[in-house]
Amino acid sequence: MTPLPFDDYHALSDAECQARIRAARQQLGKEAVLLCHHYQRADVYQHADLTGDSLKLSRLAAETDSPHIVFCGVHFMAEVADIMSRPEQTAILPDLAAGCSMADMANLAKVERCWRELGEALEVEANFTPVTYINSAADLKAFCGEHGGIVCTSSNAGVIAQWAFGRRPKILFFPDQHLGRWTGHNMGIPLDEMRVWDPDLPLGGLTPNAINQAKILLWKGHCSVHQMFNKRQIDAFRARHPDGIVIAHPECSFEVCAASDHVGSTELIVKTIKEAPAGTRWLVGTELNLVERLAREVAPQGKTVQFMSDIICMCSTMQRIDPRHLAWTLENLAAGQLVNPIIVPPHEAKLAKLALERMLALR
Ligand code: 13P
Ligand code: SF4
Repeated sequence: MTPLPFDDYHALSDAECQARIRAARQQLGKEAVLLCHHYQRADVYQHADLTGDSLKLSRLAAETDSPHIVFCGVHFMAEVADIMSRPEQTAILPDLAAGCSMADMANLAKVERCWRELGEALEVEANFTPVTYINSAADLKAFCGEHGGIVCTSSNAGVIAQWAFGRRPKILFFPDQHLGRWTGHNMGIPLDEMRVWDPDLPLGGLTPNAINQAKILLWKGHCSVHQMFNKRQIDAFRARHPDGIVIAHPECSFEVCAASDHVGSTELIVKTIKEAPAGTRWLVGTELNLVERLAREVAPQGKTVQFMSDIICMCSTMQRIDPRHLAWTLENLAAGQLVNPIIVPPHEAKLAKLALERMLALR
């Protein structure tokens, strides 16, 4: 039997699509679990069994007994689900084009070149712990597993950095310079001891002396969604609402994080605002789908939630997981066909799992 072709789903109306998702889910029962990231669009998020930030979702993927994990998120998240689940379970990404542009800013060839070049400046394995943000491809997690390193997420980066410094005096942090810088700053590391490594320049654009003096090397990578927030937006909000509270994701720039009242993962943002007193007013620096959903959910308690940017910043790759792809994936599964499985090669999965397990053992 061949899989149902995706082309047949283009013409479905929104209502038909939603009805077919519900019917396929009912037919599948416990055969499939739907894990959903907080940035997922509302017309997909409503079908989630479990939701969370990257850390929570990686734990949930490791704990579920369901044979099929349908991941409504981006590619690296589905890879983590494949790595952390049992071999007989499958992780599925409804649209393979749902990547993460930040994750794409580092690749294995460039990280290996960086490691080699660092080795010319000093004894790299004795000096640097590689730490990869979970927003990275499985082969970079495997690189960390192999070289005594670890994975971190936006909710545990501080604890992970402490672990990393406990092993070696310096950290090579990739691919998000902003999360790395904010984490180092919270540990009391001066900004001039955190240097940006530009993978497109020889020796990262640094001198051997600068590398020797640095505590953290920050890969020159960023999230294009969180780049759209700036301090001017925070200042304007505070001028209009002196009692307003500002909360931002640590992928935002240093200036935005420093000007915010709270900084944390998507799960922390959701929890903090849901648990806040009635009548409070919030400015939120993270992706639009999350902010709009949260604004709707807390409005009955008289809380006001405002998006930080004056222009739309959605995660366009997460957005690709739409109801048509979800219906297509689920109906194929219900018909006994597996489409878009995410399979990390076993040698890579083994090393990546080592780095992920080091993280999960800490928090
Ligand atoms: P969280 O782990 O905070 O959900 O962040 C994931 C992400 O990609 C944010 O852009
Ligand atoms: Fe990647 Fe940015 Fe989208 Fe998060 S918001 S998944 S970092 S592109």
